[in-house]
Amino acid sequence: MSAEQAEVRLAAGALRTVRALLPGCSVAAGLVRNPARTLRYVDGLGRDRGMLLEGQALVAAYRSMRERSTQMIPFEDDKPAGRQLFSTPINGLDGLPIGALQVLTEAKRLPPSFVSALEAVTQVIGDTVQQHRLNRDLQHSLNQLFLVYEVGRLFNLASSLDEVLLQVRDQLSGTLNFHTCCIMLVNERRTLVPEAGIGIDKGWMQEARPTLSRSVAARVLEAGAAVQITDPVELGNLDMPLLENGVPPASVLSAPLRTRMGMIGVLELYTAAPYAFSVDEVFLLSVLAAEVATAVENSQLYIHLREKEGRLTVLAHKLIHSQEEERRRIARDMHDGLAQMIVSAYQYLQAHAFTVPEGSDRHSLERGMALLTECIDESRNVIFDLRPSTLDDFGLVLALRQYLSQLETDLGWQVEFSLVGQVGPLPAALETAIFRMVKEALTNAKKHARAERVLVRLAAKGKTMTITVRDWGQGFNPREASTRRNGQLGLMGMKERVALLNGAFSLRSKPGTGTLIRIVLPLE
Ligand SMILES: Nc1ncnc2c1ncn2[C@@H]1O[C@H](COP(=O)(O)OP(=O)(O)OP(=O)(O)O)[C@@H](O)[C@H]1O
Ligand SMILES: [Mg+2]
Repeated sequence: MSAEQAEVRLAAGALRTVRALLPGCSVAAGLVRNPARTLRYVDGLGRDRGMLLEGQALVAAYRSMRERSTQMIPFEDDKPAGRQLFSTPINGLDGLPIGALQVLTEAKRLPPSFVSALEAVTQVIGDTVQQHRLNRDLQHSLNQLFLVYEVGRLFNLASSLDEVLLQVRDQLSGTLNFHTCCIMLVNERRTLVPEAGIGIDKGWMQEARPTLSRSVAARVLEAGAAVQITDPVELGNLDMPLLENGVPPASVLSAPLRTRMGMIGVLELYTAAPYAFSVDEVFLLSVLAAEVATAVENSQLYIHLREKEGRLTVLAHKLIHSQEEERRRIARDMHDGLAQMIVSAYQYLQAHAFTVPEGSDRHSLERGMALLTECIDESRNVIFDLRPSTLDDFGLVLALRQYLSQLETDLGWQVEFSLVGQVGPLPAALETAIFRMVKEALTNAKKHARAERVLVRLAAKGKTMTITVRDWGQGFNPREASTRRNGQLGLMGMKERVALLNGAFSLRSKPGTGTLIRIVLPLE
């Protein structure tokens, strides 16, 4: 039940009480509800109730309120003569009059203490009405507070200005009964760009670019606060949006969107019929505008950040690509130049060895040939490290097999390699990335874990590939390792590669239990 309905019900009860005290009388109650303090008829009973709170009776009501006492005067306005009019003020909790109760009677004899009874009744009405109004105001303030909280919360979740505006509309329509609103931002050319609108003509939204000086926003900027315009002549001189039915609005309320950068735009409400926005409505829109401004600022920062992130990703891809190219070039140069020369040097020495007779001192010759054999092996390792040619020639799976079998022979490791599903062929960049990550994980197992047993598994399922590298070595505390920052790049590089490929990286390790790395990559 609204406060007004409660007031009507209360008045009706009081009127019945008075009629019970003085049967046959006419009785009416009026209350002041607006800031202008005009007395409004709330309810009445009896034949002549229409004459109360009117003409002479109304003057008497105001007098009783001004003098804060019951006025008893002869009623002169109409026949029959000899009637009396009682007017008793209704006082609020603070003692200030908030209305009047009037009784018109022909009775010659009044019940004893009739005036005291009237005053007791009006006291009850006054106290209760004021209580209801305080409750209503409290509820209203709570609603507004909740609204502001809720809007702030939802704005943080909203990702576009359209969503923000929908929240504004939804929140406002519960409280203010508005459906038409718009967010406009000021650009560098001092024109307004409609960013989001509800109930606004679509063509206007797309094409209109009102100049700041010809819009309400200019006045908002000047005033530094919300501005409302309801005067049709004034509105006619401004660039206003068209509402959905093609007509210009009859009233507008515009509030500034202010951020740390200054005023960035306006949040506006429009009505199709002339409407004067109340102080409360202006206040509420201003509060909402502050929240909207923060949301706009956040979304602009977010877009800015995304662009930057995008540029960084492109840069990182290029960097990795050129790094791979450089490695490939060095590997090729070493293979075709340095390694070939070492091989030829070995062959020359080998040919020479045939001419040196058995039994003579061949020690230096054989030492030189042995060193050259080591050189050939070492350069092969370096070339493979730089860029395994099998990766280019036969793809990821063979390159990994070759690498793992080398670890088995060189380190005596127990290696388990398994493939699940149809692995490959994959894009070259993805194959290189996977090879490098598995190699780094295995190098860590060699360098830090003193592992003797490792497992590598590639599993393709649907549109993802899961790469698992597990060692049964010493294990470590990942949290401690991540706080150490002394030039360790392996795990960090792995995580960055995975992030660049929009994948997910996880590492589980504990001292004594070995280490498990799992990487999930999208294949598209
Ligand atoms: N499989 C593992 N077993 C035990 N400890 C590991 C393992 N992998 C990583 N760690 C620990 O985590 C640390 C960080 O590893 P990361 O690969 O980032 O750096 P790094 O191997 O020390 O140096 P870089 O890889 O840059 O040559 C290592 O120093 C090591 O202490
Ligand atoms: Mg490492």
